[in-house]
Amino acid sequence: MALPKVYVTQRILKEGMDLLNGHVDYKMWRGEGAPDRATLLREVQDVEGLLSMPANAIDDELFSHAPKLKVVSQHAVGFDNIDIEAAKRHGIMICNTPDVLTDATADLAFTLLLAAARRLVECSEYLRRGQWTTWYPDMWLGMDTAGKKLGIVGFGQIGQAVARRAKGFGMSICYYNPSAKPAAEKELGAQRVSLDKLLQTSDYVTLHCPLKDETRSLIGERELRMMKPTAILVNTSRGLVVDQKALCKALSEKWIWAAGLDVFAKEPVPLDEPLLTLPNVTVMPHMGSATYDSRGGMSRLAAQNLIDALEGRQPLYVVNP
Ligand code: DGY
Repeated sequence: MALPKVYVTQRILKEGMDLLNGHVDYKMWRGEGAPDRATLLREVQDVEGLLSMPANAIDDELFSHAPKLKVVSQHAVGFDNIDIEAAKRHGIMICNTPDVLTDATADLAFTLLLAAARRLVECSEYLRRGQWTTWYPDMWLGMDTAGKKLGIVGFGQIGQAVARRAKGFGMSICYYNPSAKPAAEKELGAQRVSLDKLLQTSDYVTLHCPLKDETRSLIGERELRMMKPTAILVNTSRGLVVDQKALCKALSEKWIWAAGLDVFAKEPVPLDEPLLTLPNVTVMPHMGSATYDSRGGMSRLAAQNLIDALEGRQPLYVVNP
C-alpha cells in the first residue's frame, strides 16, 4: 500500500527523519530558512500530513490548497502561526511538541536573566576592545539574584521550570497566570498575584505565556512604566507579547534597567531595529530550544504525532482535540 505523502517545511534532526522512514513518503524543504509561500502552497497540494515550523503561516488559504490534508504536526510548543479555527473548519488535526523543550528554554531564560544582570556581553566586548586597562570598585556593576523577586508571567511547564532554577538562586517567586492554579505552586513557594502587582514588585520579570489575542502587547508602555527602574525583563516566549517600540523607549529612557530577549516582533530581527543599538539589551536569535537533546526530542515527537495521526492512533499532543 502506498505510504501517505507528507511535506516537512524545514530540515529536522536525524532522529525525526529516522522515525518517518517506512511510515510516510516525505519530502523535506532543504533550502535556506523556510520555504516561500508559493512553494509551500504548491507542496501541500497532495499531502495528507504537514510537519510545520513557526516560520510559516498555516492558515485558511493553505488548508484550501491542501484538500487531502489530515494533520499538521508543529515542530514547536508554540503554534501562534497556525489558524486553529480554520483548522477546525477544515477538519484538520493540529499537534505540537511540549515538554521536550521545557528545560532548554528555561535554561536560556535564566541565562539571559543572569547575562543581563551581570552585563556579560557589555563586559566581554569591553575586554575584547582592549579597554580593560585598570580595575576599580564601581566598574561594570550589575544586579544580584539572591534575595530578589522574580515575577513569572505564564506559569505553565516552562514558567515552572524557571521558578525551580530561581529557587536554587535564593530568589522569591511570584507569578501571573489567568487560568487554573498550578499544582506546583506550593512546591515552588510561588505566590499568585495580579499582573500589575507582579510588575510593580518584581526585580526580574520573565515571560512564558503563549501568543494569543489576549497576550498580544501584554507588556506595553503602561506595564513597563509600572516596573522598577532597576528591573530586568526577559522574553523567551514570543516577541509580540511585548510592544517592542515601548520596550525600546523604556530601556533608553531607563524606566527599566535592562532586558534579555530571545524573541522579537519580526524574526529574523532587522538590523536597523533600534533595540539593537542599546547596550542594556542582551539578545539571542530565538534559540530557546536549541540544544541537541531538545531539538532531537522535538523532531522525534513531531514525527511520532504525525505518524500516529496518519495511522489512526491518538497522538500524544493534540492542540485541537
Ligand atoms: C517553540 O517551540 O515554540 C519555540 O519557540 C521554538 O520555535
